Amino acid sequence: MSFICRTFARRISRGLSARQLQLLDGFSFLNEVSLAKVFSQNKIIELEIGFGNGDNLLNMALRSPDVLFIGAEPYLNGVVSLIDKICSAKVSNILIWPDNVDLLLPHIPDNSFTNIYILFPDPWPKNRHKKRRLINTHRVELFKKKLQQRGMLKFSSDVNDYVSWVDSIFFEQGWHKYITSEEEFLPGYKATKYHRKAVKNSIDAVQFRSFFYISR
Ligand SMILES: C[S@@+](CC[C@H](N)C(=O)[O-])C[C@H]1O[C@@H](n2cnc3c(N)ncnc32)[C@H](O)[C@@H]1O
Repeated sequence: MSFICRTFARRISRGLSARQLQLLDGFSFLNEVSLAKVFSQNKIIELEIGFGNGDNLLNMALRSPDVLFIGAEPYLNGVVSLIDKICSAKVSNILIWPDNVDLLLPHIPDNSFTNIYILFPDPWPKNRHKKRRLINTHRVELFKKKLQQRGMLKFSSDVNDYVSWVDSIFFEQGWHKYITSEEEFLPGYKATKYHRKAVKNSIDAVQFRSFFYISR
């Protein structure tokens, strides 16, 4: 089944230092048990999938202290980088699922999130790799279930082919699409690492594009 196909490239790039291992060991991650408690509270909860080094998640958490943010990321160097930032900024409204989001979603009650963010997902440009794309028909059905009514999935990519791919999946499932400015897309947004990379590498024809979709 294509759904279980791995969508991420690696879990570790550079080896982790003793300090980083200590940070990972000492951090209280979300797990199947703690999740039940999280969703029994009456809180606004948002999810970022593939947060990378966590800059956007931290920024959102600082801007909206009353919102609870869950981040899912299997890349441990990124996870430890976010933990470091959480500790320095003393932020208490971020919960981390340090793994594949496919393992998290089955534990999430339906109608839970007000927003889901997927920023600059791995493009998997080769035809034979497209099945690895994070956004596919099965996951979009699942995202829709996990979003509240009129919840939004905010997606951005600089890869035109990925944008068209996403368009067709959302269109088939009857979502509405908006084209928006960066500020409207994500208030206070600061370019993520992969956004910055895209800007650095872009030739004139390739523009950063941000879109969001709101469920029916
Ligand atoms: C190209 S990076 C973008 C990171 C960040 N959003 C940014 O804009 O800088 C894509 C990230 O998605 C993560 N990812 C891929 N598949 C995932 C999955 N199934 N669950 C959670 N994260 C995933 C990867 O590990 C990687 O860190």
